[in-house]
Amino acid sequence: MSYRQKHLLAIEGLHPPEIGHLLDLAESYVLLNRTGKTQRDVLRGQTLINLFFEDSTRTRTSFELAGKRLGADVINMSVSTSSVNKGETLLDTAATLNAMHCDLLVVRHDQSGAPNLLAQKVDAAVINAGDGTHEHPTQALLDALTIRRRKGRLEGLIVAICGDVLHSRVARSNIHLLTTMGSRVRVIGPPTLIPTDAPRLGVEVFHDMDAGLAGADIVMALRLQRERMQRGLVPSAREFFRFFGLDAEKLAFAKPDALVMHPGPMNRGVEIDSAVADDAQRSLIREQVEMGVAVRMAVLDTLARRHGRND
Ligand code: ASP
Ligand code: CP
Repeated sequence: MSYRQKHLLAIEGLHPPEIGHLLDLAESYVLLNRTGKTQRDVLRGQTLINLFFEDSTRTRTSFELAGKRLGADVINMSVSTSSVNKGETLLDTAATLNAMHCDLLVVRHDQSGAPNLLAQKVDAAVINAGDGTHEHPTQALLDALTIRRRKGRLEGLIVAICGDVLHSRVARSNIHLLTTMGSRVRVIGPPTLIPTDAPRLGVEVFHDMDAGLAGADIVMALRLQRERMQRGLVPSAREFFRFFGLDAEKLAFAKPDALVMHPGPMNRGVEIDSAVADDAQRSLIREQVEMGVAVRMAVLDTLARRHGRND
């Protein structure tokens, strides 16, 4: 098997065959999911714990569904009603879960690096479900699968990522994955929302949508991550929409067959217009959610095998 890691903490550092393996396996799960077949023997006897210190709809639900479809015992730990509220630390929480012999630990946290820390302390395989502004690896994998299925390849495509790139872990993971797989990545946003190290990441930087979207095959809109902003970095939502919100007028600068993506949750009328988000011909937003389940099944399957309990 070409995936060599015990955990999935980040896309940065993964090699093309490792990414290719996860995407190919996810592809087979898409077909199984569509025919309604479950694979309950794959994770039978294994325990998966979802540990989410930040809100989530898609990621938590799809990990739960993925685990159950593969036969795992799935526990969703509700952090808001847990002993974290009584002052228990992240590491003590991890030690407690470790003592319960959890096999797969899915973690979302507002601190970048929290899943890496946990991975050093627990026996389980740890999956990063989004940490601070750092990475959201399964989101990038599901985005890549969605693109590959529609465009037939990743190599050579121009992918424009628009909006709050600075605070977006989705953007970071996508940049690492897409550049590793040979896409050309552009980031578009106001200077206050573009990371200063963007050129080092191998992307082209644009500050206006017309130029940045010209010739793009894929246009990805991002939510303003207000929960991670120290101060007001955008004058107002209305102003932001006028210059950077993805509407039909701006989308017209991209290729005529350009497709639209958004990781969700969307703020309609801020980073994306409803007419674009709901355009059945061009929007891949629902398909991204479907691919999320298949990608998470592929990740759980792969890590369980790496863990050695499943061979
Ligand atoms: N759901 C994604 C994340 O958790 C994107 C977002 O929240 O805007 O990073
Ligand atoms: N895209 C994404 O991670 O969505 P949730 O925050 O709802 O999990």
